[in-house]
Order: sequence, then C-alpha cells, then structure tokens
Amino acid sequence: MSREDDLSFLAPPGEVADWRMVATFDAAAEAGLFEQLPATPAQVASRLGLDERAVRILLGALSVWGVVEKHAGRYSMHPDWSCDQGEAATLRHHARVLRTWSTQLGDRLRGTPPSPSKIPPERRRLWLEALAASAREQAPLVVETCLKRFPNVRRVLDLGGGHGEHARAFARRGLSVMLQDTEPTVELLKESELPSSGVELFAGDFFEVLPNAQFDLVLCAGVTHTYDGERNRLLYRRIASILASGGGLAIITFLPEQDPRASIFAVQMLAVSAGGDAHKEIKYREWLEAEGYRAPEIRHLSNTANFLLLTSRR
Ligand SMILES: C[S@@+](CC[C@H](N)C(=O)[O-])C[C@H]1O[C@@H](n2cnc3c(N)ncnc32)[C@H](O)[C@@H]1O
Repeated sequence: MSREDDLSFLAPPGEVADWRMVATFDAAAEAGLFEQLPATPAQVASRLGLDERAVRILLGALSVWGVVEKHAGRYSMHPDWSCDQGEAATLRHHARVLRTWSTQLGDRLRGTPPSPSKIPPERRRLWLEALAASAREQAPLVVETCLKRFPNVRRVLDLGGGHGEHARAFARRGLSVMLQDTEPTVELLKESELPSSGVELFAGDFFEVLPNAQFDLVLCAGVTHTYDGERNRLLYRRIASILASGGGLAIITFLPEQDPRASIFAVQMLAVSAGGDAHKEIKYREWLEAEGYRAPEIRHLSNTANFLLLTSRR
C-alpha cells in the first residue's frame, strides 16, 4: 500500500481510536440506533423517525469495525463488541474532542478565545462518565498513595471532584469526604448514588466559595491544568485557608517532562479553555513555593499519563 493510502481517510480500519469509527459510533449512539437492534435499517429508521439511507450506511460502516453484524438483512450488536457504558462514553467524548479540534484550533491560533458555552446536562453527563471510566481505575492507587504520605487524614475535600470516583474511593476507606464542584455538576451528582455512599456535596465555584470547614487533605484531580499560572496560585492560596494544621494537598495532572501525552493533552486545553495547559513540573514547584507550600513529592500513577504531586504547608 502506498504512503498516500495510509494517510488518506480510506486507510484500512485500525484500532478503536480510528476517528472514522469514533465519529460514526457517536452519531449512531446519539440517535439511539443501538437500542433498536436487532432490526433492519428500515425498522430502525421508522421507529426513530430517521432517514433510512443514513441508517443503512452508518450500520454498514459500523459492521466493518465489528460494532454490529448483519444476518439476513437484520443488524445486531456484534457478540465480540464488548464496550461497557464507560467505554462508550469515552468513545463519545473522543468524538466531541475531534469536533472541537477540527473546528477550534484555527481560531485559537488567531488568538480568539473559546466562547463560554453552557454545556447541556446530557453532554456534561457523558463527559463525566468518560472521565469516571479512567478515574475508577486510578482511584484506589490515588487513595493508597495519599494515605501513605498523609497517614493521619480523617477529613478529605475532593475539589473539582466531577464524577466523584476519587471521593467514593476515600469514603470506602471510612474517611469523611466532601466533594465540591460547580452547581450543574452537583445537580447531576445529587441524582446519583454518591450522596448515599457517604460523600457530602458542596456546590460552588472554588474561586468564589469554599466549604466552611478544615480538611486534612484536599485533592485537586484534573483541575489545575484547566487554569493558567495566576489562577493556580490563587487556588493554592485559597486552599491554604481550609487546610488543617499538617494537612496535605494532592494534585493530579499531566507533566510534559515525564510523559509526552501531556503535550498532546495541552491541545485540548488550548481548544476549550482560556488559560489551561499541560504545565511543567517546574511551574508547579514555583507556584506552590510562592504560596507557602513545601516542594512537592511526585508519584507516577502507573498505567496512566497522570502524576500525583503531594505537598503540605511549610
Ligand atoms: C477534568 S474534571 C476532573 C474531574 C475529576 N476530579 C477527575 O479527576 O476526573 C474538572 C472538574 O473540575 C470542576 N471545576 C473546574 N473549575 C471549577 C471551579 N472554579 N469551581 C468548582 N469546580 C470546578 C469541573 O466542573 C470538573 O468537574
């Protein structure tokens, strides 16, 4: 095969991350096609009020990647397609990233910032589900590593806790846990089983309000890279006011010196945030030091591109 064939959109189907499958899967999932199977394209189209040709073409393409299979004119999910809810959400979030990168990067290069948009609840739910799928795997190691470094922790704040996987993992260890996130995310969490698993919820922008309590550990997972240096420093200053004496701050983020995926992730921060970046380790050291924290100890969260920075007040 020629180099052009490799590079063109007609390259042979590759891995799960093949953008063609990602985009096709997302469109089919969004329209609710999979819930209608087994069925013929005509049946799917008529039940969902969709265009029959479009349904036929999407299902035909999805059969190439082994998502669905066709027998006697009827499509069904392929028996080998073992994509759970978290993996499906990951694929769908990937599709959103594709759309964002392909439409936004030119504007960012010209200096136009992303427009602040209200995320519809369904999209927020999918995004959180995708983040939860990867956090679920790393959460036990995060808890283990934090408690080894700060063995006297009793009260934990999961700041920007999102889906709540880290909070849940701390609560399972019998600790008292509060999760703070923005109002729309906390509204979604209220409908989940998180409150009944012992995690207290607190809604509000952490630059404006923090819980009126003291914590032995504040976890900032996946939060600091969404802001610039000035905001990071402000955040660490604000956290200092709610850290109990001897309390710890744990930051989970990407470090470009340690893993090249950080530099790719930085493109996503460029696309969707005003000042976010995969900040360098030296920057975190500088900001933490300037706000009165000790030099962070750095741990790799194995099998991920994430690093844990552990520090406390000087
Ligand atoms: C990328 S998610 C990380 C979620 C989770 N901590 C994790 O590790 O997967 C960032 C979370 O921080 C929250 N967040 C960002 N800025 C915030 C702010 N100013 N106040 C409260 N929450 C914020 C977002 O709503 C989102 O849920």
